Amino acid sequence: MKTYIVAAAEGISPAAALLSVGDIVALPTETVYGLGADALNPTACAKIFEAKDRPLYDPLIVHIPDRKWLVRLAVASDCAHILAENFWPGPLTLVLPRTGIVPDIVTSGQETIAIRMSAHPDFQAVARIFGNPIAAPSANRFGRISPTSADHVVEELDGRIPLVVDGGDCAHGVESTIVLVRGSEIHILRNGPITAEELARFGTVRGLMADISAPGGLASHYAPSTPLVIEDLVADGAELPFMERASRLLSVQQNGGADGHPSSIGLLAWSHSGEGFAHVEHLSKTQNLREAATNLYGAMRRLDAAGHALIIAESVPEHGLGAAIMERLRKASAR
Ligand code: TXA
Ligand code: MG
Repeated sequence: MKTYIVAAAEGISPAAALLSVGDIVALPTETVYGLGADALNPTACAKIFEAKDRPLYDPLIVHIPDRKWLVRLAVASDCAHILAENFWPGPLTLVLPRTGIVPDIVTSGQETIAIRMSAHPDFQAVARIFGNPIAAPSANRFGRISPTSADHVVEELDGRIPLVVDGGDCAHGVESTIVLVRGSEIHILRNGPITAEELARFGTVRGLMADISAPGGLASHYAPSTPLVIEDLVADGAELPFMERASRLLSVQQNGGADGHPSSIGLLAWSHSGEGFAHVEHLSKTQNLREAATNLYGAMRRLDAAGHALIIAESVPEHGLGAAIMERLRKASAR
């Protein structure tokens, strides 16, 4: 199959048409690119799992064209309605009890459904023309780094999907925050652009819930092919000598290209200058966590593509969007 990348202006109508006939298309959202299908058509949704090599036990997020769809697909508590009013359209996904019209393949047979409404104008345009909810996981092969540009989608899914609608780079760069809402309790299942601090205004926030049925519930996820370790390289404003430690990490990793020398190490930098490393990608030179989130996956892809023996990722402060970034780094480092 040939995969076409089409600018949003020309891609919106064909994308809606493909969805209507049960096909799949990659679409930009404000978080990461999604691989969309008609959420009410099980055969169409099956194509998502096939294209991504995604196991059927990992349920999909459903993106609704407007708020009316919330109660058609889910049983929403007052708290869920308030969250939807305050954060939709936007990067918040609500996990709620589902209704009978949701196909089993979407929820992997679970009694809950994950729902959000995207704020991306191109996604909204497609959703409006199509008119039905769109099931869309991130448009990467299973377990790999989520795409934040149309080119990333092609790197992941070329030849497996008919169309990528190019809506430019994603504004947030990390996937939506996912919360399970039980009455007025908000359980965070995945950290993301909407922070615990923001959610706390609307209910009792419970921290990350480690549940195997939950998002990226698997320990390893969002992973580059190159081994990645998280390290603190700066203490009290001073860069720590990392050479000896890096050599040790390298010899432990035993990666094909390892030559036991830090010159084959790439750095995903937060506060280190990068001196001494073969290749440095700065998340944000001004140490802005929003900018860092936007750059995270692109930087991870470039480091991965460079074929280093090892990637060292510096920890970032774990407040605000830092929680989402650290969660991704931990999953990228698990193998
Ligand atoms: O920002 C996003 O959320 C992007 C864009 C495309 O919207 N989508 C996304 O989808 O990240 P995906 O499939 O890559 O990640 C969704 C996660 C999965 O790990 C899945 O396990 C979890 O959401 N999930 C889906 N339905 C669920 C449910 N009913 N209960 C718990 N977790 C669920
Ligand atoms: Mg994903």
